[in-house]
Amino acid sequence: MAKPSFLPPFMFGLLFATFRVILSAKYSSITVDQSALLALKSHITHDPHNFLTTNWSTSTSVCSWIGVTCGSKHYRVTALNLSSMDLTGTISSQLGNLSFLAWLDIHQNSFQGSLPIELTNLRLMKYLDFGDNSFNGEIPLWFGCFSKLQTLSLYLNNFIGVIPSTLGNLSKLELLSLDGNQISGRIPNSLFKCKELKFLSLLNNSLEGSIPTEIGNLTLLKTLGLGINHFKGEIPSVIGDLTSLVIIDLFYNNLTGEIPLVFGNLTSLRELWLCNNKLTGEIPFVIGKLTSLQVLCLSNNKLTGEIPLVIGNLTSLQLLYLFYNKLTGIISCFFYSLFCY
Ligand SMILES: *[C@@H]1O[C@H](CO)[C@@H](O)[C@H](O)[C@H]1NC(C)=O
Ligand SMILES: *[C@@H]1O[C@H](CO)[C@@H](O)[C@H](O)[C@H]1NC(C)=O
Ligand SMILES: *[C@@H]1O[C@H](CO)[C@@H](O)[C@H](O)[C@H]1NC(C)=O
Ligand SMILES: *[C@@H]1O[C@H](CO)[C@@H](O)[C@H](O)[C@H]1NC(C)=O
Ligand SMILES: *[C@@H]1O[C@H](CO)[C@@H](O)[C@H](O)[C@H]1NC(C)=O
Ligand SMILES: *[C@@H]1O[C@H](CO)[C@@H](O)[C@H](O)[C@H]1NC(C)=O
Ligand SMILES: *[C@@H]1O[C@H](CO)[C@@H](O)[C@H](O)[C@H]1NC(C)=O
Ligand SMILES: *[C@@H]1O[C@H](CO)[C@@H](O)[C@H](O)[C@H]1NC(C)=O
Repeated sequence: MAKPSFLPPFMFGLLFATFRVILSAKYSSITVDQSALLALKSHITHDPHNFLTTNWSTSTSVCSWIGVTCGSKHYRVTALNLSSMDLTGTISSQLGNLSFLAWLDIHQNSFQGSLPIELTNLRLMKYLDFGDNSFNGEIPLWFGCFSKLQTLSLYLNNFIGVIPSTLGNLSKLELLSLDGNQISGRIPNSLFKCKELKFLSLLNNSLEGSIPTEIGNLTLLKTLGLGINHFKGEIPSVIGDLTSLVIIDLFYNNLTGEIPLVFGNLTSLRELWLCNNKLTGEIPFVIGKLTSLQVLCLSNNKLTGEIPLVIGNLTSLQLLYLFYNKLTGIISCFFYSLFCY
């Protein structure tokens, strides 16, 4: 008969295992973060200013490493900021193990290659800035899985292909910047489901098609940058409903038709770049209602008629470009101390 004071061996094993799980939950999680960051460090091939070389050392806590921020509650890595460190390297798959990471900012470095799918484990991600690096390949479809994402910045990289329609999943997205890549195709309609967007900038890519009227759904939009692409067709008048707009940049496309009259409703507008298109008709007199306007670029179009004198009422105007049109009239740059080109 077994003595009742002893646990059967299997029970003892179970207890021990439980104890181990409790122990590891408490102590190993920050160790997981440490090995994820050390893996990232080992994928950095050039660190010219030695930011990480000695600083990211196991002799000190991960949470005191340069660029690393830990949460006060869980003592796990919540933010990683390696921006402007001139680092060269690739993003290791282990980065996906930083399960509490919500801010990742590595802009202005020379990271290259493609982004590992393991990053999809980072379900708390709110802020991703990969801008000004050398990432290539297509924009991953799985970016659509970051349900808390507010900022997605991929500008100045070598991304090719189309804007994935899965980005329409990002219902909290406020900023999307894809400037200066080689992205082609049309803007997917799903993108206009991202109703929190305040900043949408797709400048200097190879996007085509017309500017979708669904853009009218983005009622919080402050910056709309579609310049230096291959958009054609008319400027949708629904843009005139987006009264929060501060900057409209449609520069250097193939837009035709007239400047919509409803633009006169955009009284917050500070910059209106419509130059280098194929716009026709007259400059609408309602332009005189845009009293916050600092930049008005209409040069290189096919505009006709008189230059409306109301432009003289735009006292904030600093840059006025009207050249290469078929405009007439007497507006003197000297009178309004404007820079005219
Ligand atoms: C690492 O850098 C951080 C931030 O600059 C600094 O506070 C810390 O003392 C450095 N640690 C070591 C070991 O150099
Ligand atoms: C990262 O650090 C840079 C430089 O200190 C700062 O300008 C930037 O706002 C930081 N990024 C985030 C997401 O806080
Ligand atoms: C971290 O990530 C890598 C690759 O994604 C994986 O193989 C590894 O098991 C993960 N866990 C730990 C604790 O490092
Ligand atoms: C989009 O969101 C749905 C529901 O939240 C999710 O099931 C789906 O996997 C997401 N799609 C992508 C590509 O992440
Ligand atoms: C647009 O991007 C190309 C590279 O894709 C670059 O060479 C060019 O200078 C950029 N143009 C502007 C106006 O930024
Ligand atoms: C735009 O908003 C309207 C009305 O809220 C909605 O019916 C439509 O589906 C939206 N379109 C897109 C592409 O989200
Ligand atoms: C505008 O269209 C013409 C003729 O189709 C084309 O040659 C030109 O590259 C286009 N320009 C832009 C900026 O898309
Ligand atoms: C917007 O502009 C149009 C055309 O100029 C005008 O009829 C309309 O009343 C304006 N709407 C608002 C809300 O100002």
